[in-house]
Amino acid sequence: MPRPLGVAVVGIGWVAVQHITAFRRNPHARVVLLCTRDERRAAERLRTAGVTLEDVRYTTRYADVLKARDVEIVSIATPNHLHARQAVQAAHAGKHILLEKPTGLDTRELTQIRDAVRRARVRTIVSFELHYNPYLRFAHWLREAGWLGALRFARVQYLSRVTDWYSGWSWVRTRASGRSHLLAAGCHAVDALRWCTGLEAAEVSAYHTRFTAGYEWPTSIAVNLRMGPSRARRAPVLGQIVSSTDFQMPYAFSVEMMGDRATLRDDLILWNDEPFPLDALREACPFPDVSFSPAALPTGAQAIKVQAEMPGTADVSHHPFQGEIDELVACVLEGRETHLNVHDAQKTMEICLAADRSAERGGRPVRLPLLKS
Ligand SMILES: NC(=O)c1ccc[n+]([C@@H]2O[C@H](COP(=O)([O-])OP(=O)(O)OC[C@H]3O[C@@H](n4cnc5c(N)ncnc54)[C@H](OP(=O)(O)O)[C@@H]3O)[C@@H](O)[C@H]2O)c1
Repeated sequence: MPRPLGVAVVGIGWVAVQHITAFRRNPHARVVLLCTRDERRAAERLRTAGVTLEDVRYTTRYADVLKARDVEIVSIATPNHLHARQAVQAAHAGKHILLEKPTGLDTRELTQIRDAVRRARVRTIVSFELHYNPYLRFAHWLREAGWLGALRFARVQYLSRVTDWYSGWSWVRTRASGRSHLLAAGCHAVDALRWCTGLEAAEVSAYHTRFTAGYEWPTSIAVNLRMGPSRARRAPVLGQIVSSTDFQMPYAFSVEMMGDRATLRDDLILWNDEPFPLDALREACPFPDVSFSPAALPTGAQAIKVQAEMPGTADVSHHPFQGEIDELVACVLEGRETHLNVHDAQKTMEICLAADRSAERGGRPVRLPLLKS
């Protein structure tokens, strides 16, 4: 058996605990180094979370992570303004990278990450871990396998109230680190829209507003997107993101996709014309953790109810980091790209930046991509 891949985790906070837990469950990886500003506080955080690490070393200097010969993967779980610099340095040092979202906070940072990772040919994965959520994975498959027909409209809503309960409140609410609602949080919705529809945005237009006290940036944004190739002869697919930390309601992550055959609306599949073949769907669905039952709306219309674990909580201890980390480890060992690398995430970040730019200019449309490839 070859030695497990050595992992260093940087920034021992809320999310890092989940990274560490998932790496520990992977038999081909071992957490060997923790980079923290305060070893005692980091150890206490792990103890409180019930995580025990044998033979782990601590350092306060990121340079030690870059130099460590037994570290193959660096997991970057620090506040947003540190991601780009730490990712670029890790790539230069030849380390594979798990990078928390957002990757870069502006086009300069995105370019730096892209170029450094390309040059170093290291593997990367970005924490849009909802790709491993059973419902979202099903929604992606349903559209891709053609069950909805030709897509016409898709909307993702992400309503998650983040205030001073959050461990990262001191930095996330600032422009210097959190930067904007989409970059700090709503990028999950943008990523889900891209992944579920399989389409890229050609143009966006957005409005934003603010409500929740304490933030240095607007806390709600509504984005309209023209999706698909800009010169397509077909009508564009319309996309919409509503993302907010203001709604006084439980966390909601809602996915809707309307095709010319059927509509997926959260856990319901609905149709107008041709009846939808439930038995054929049951047979074709490749996911054992997704099941279906017939349903009826109050109007009497027939529907299918999807039973799957939904993306239903802001609590990261329920987020599917295991799938993300297992994919990164497998890709490093097998010398292949992850499906969620920094180049893919860059497109999500560009939409966030373009939408923020549009909102700052009173809704004026902004064309994409922002970066030349
Ligand atoms: N993918 C997801 O679902 C998800 C969910 C939540 C957050 N995130 C992302 O994960 C990253 C970390 O978020 P978190 O929720 O874990 O935040 P957090 O609890 O504040 O943890 C961040 C850690 O970074 C370290 N750090 C280094 N420099 C710092 C500074 N100047 N100020 C504050 N902390 C500093 C601290 O650890 P030490 O004291 O050990 O140095 C801190 O505990 C963020 O980029 C966030 O966007 C992702």
